[in-house]
Amino acid sequence: MASKSRWADTEEDAALEAKKKREKEEKKRLKAEKAQKAEAERRAQAEAEAAAKQRAAQEQQQRLEPPDDNIPPTKRRKITPEQDDQEKDGTTENESSAKLLRFEAGGWGKSRSVENYDKLNDIEEGAYGWVARAKEIKTGKVVALKRLKFDPNDASGLPETGLREIQILKDCSHRNIVSLREVVVGDDTSRIENIFLVLEFLEHDLMSVLGDMPEPFLASEVKTLLLQLASGVAYLHDHWVLHRDLKTSNLLLNNRGQLKIADFGMARYVGDPPPPKLTQLVVTLWYRAPELLLGAKTYGAAVDMWSVGCIFGELLTREPLLQGKNEVDELAKIFELCGIPTDESWPGFRRLPNARHLRLPKSSGTNTGPIIRARFPLLTAAGSALLSSLLSLNPDRRPTAKEMLDHEFFRQDPKPKHEAMFPTFPSKAGQERRRRRSTPNAPGRGQKAADLGTMDFSGLFASREKEERGGGFSLRMV
Ligand SMILES: Nc1ncnc2c1ncn2[C@@H]1O[C@H](COP(=O)(O)OP(=O)(O)OP(=O)(O)O)[C@@H](O)[C@H]1O
Ligand SMILES: [Mg+2]
Repeated sequence: MASKSRWADTEEDAALEAKKKREKEEKKRLKAEKAQKAEAERRAQAEAEAAAKQRAAQEQQQRLEPPDDNIPPTKRRKITPEQDDQEKDGTTENESSAKLLRFEAGGWGKSRSVENYDKLNDIEEGAYGWVARAKEIKTGKVVALKRLKFDPNDASGLPETGLREIQILKDCSHRNIVSLREVVVGDDTSRIENIFLVLEFLEHDLMSVLGDMPEPFLASEVKTLLLQLASGVAYLHDHWVLHRDLKTSNLLLNNRGQLKIADFGMARYVGDPPPPKLTQLVVTLWYRAPELLLGAKTYGAAVDMWSVGCIFGELLTREPLLQGKNEVDELAKIFELCGIPTDESWPGFRRLPNARHLRLPKSSGTNTGPIIRARFPLLTAAGSALLSSLLSLNPDRRPTAKEMLDHEFFRQDPKPKHEAMFPTFPSKAGQERRRRRSTPNAPGRGQKAADLGTMDFSGLFASREKEERGGGFSLRMV
């Protein structure tokens, strides 16, 4: 007689299953009930507070108003930005407030409870961050929940990064920028870890996609991604926002070929010209522009365009372009790829704090164009011209995001692939996972930029010169 399968359903199994199901449903019901109750209490409290405020205002007005019917002029709305937009690094209120712009966005009431969402799975549990896929109980809508970071390095003790992220995301509305649906809170609202951003959910981030792809993106796909990236960045720069942490893990991609910029933890508002003092320690090392590495205190939108150049290179090879081990090594890798700065190509670079003690080779031994073309042999002349310009050492020579959108690279064949024709990938964010941490983290707030001291790059091209002279191989007689 054939033995009974180990997996066959017995009556006992079925009963157990039914019991488990009942228990699960009961738990769900209780949770929904609790959320509803919390919501109702919150609403009642908010209404009571609003009514009290209105009463107080009416009373005060009655006290102030003269008995005759002279109506006082209506109070003008305050449009100057709040203090929290300013960097804690030396910008005075007057310096920046005159230049900051705020664009209109709808206001929000009191935050709802996180209990309105059911966690489905963790997406990312990084050094400090936590992002999960979750479902809104009432609507069944799938979202991403991002818990605000408590940054122990933040000397101010204020959740500045989180506040900025909320403010900027709330102000932004663009198809290539992740949208913030609401902010929800846990039970203990006095703790920053109990504040969550509810973001639209996208199936992938570009770093994970690149890491899993057996073949690199096609040229037409690279163009579609770059156009969307440039379009999102152009919108940000147009609205006076610097992202300051563009990298492939902060670019999300959905299964309809749409790219969206995420992670505004490092972003800030700036004016034109930018405030005289900005945090130097911004942007993850591999995507950090040379002017930042050389200690520039004033910088602008061009720092984001450098990162866009690094992302362009990464899309072509599936590998981060400039993987320095530390700041000095990062600069060495930049100079190897992009040549060394000269007074002609980058007037005034010597005045940057970390450039004073820089020892450079006598001759650059290089000219950016040929090296970039050699490293990306499949790229057309227009493509390498765009990449070389994004990777200009001199920030003033980098194209703006708007200029990039008009570049002939995107008009040439192969044309950008239609988003709807974009390949789809198995979603990692839809499964339980912990992402491998193989890339450096964004710098923590409040950390000081390193003084790089004397940097000796004079031997940088020595080995290349030898190679060029034909020292590559020799025949040995035995
Ligand atoms: N809206 C979203 N939909 C899907 N996945 C998301 C979403 N937002 C973030 N993620 C995933 O979570 C990861 C971390 O998110 P994010 O970069 O916003 O957080 P972070 O805490 O600042 O992370 P890090 O310090 O690694 O930059 C992303 O790389 C992405 O994989
Ligand atoms: Mg991130």
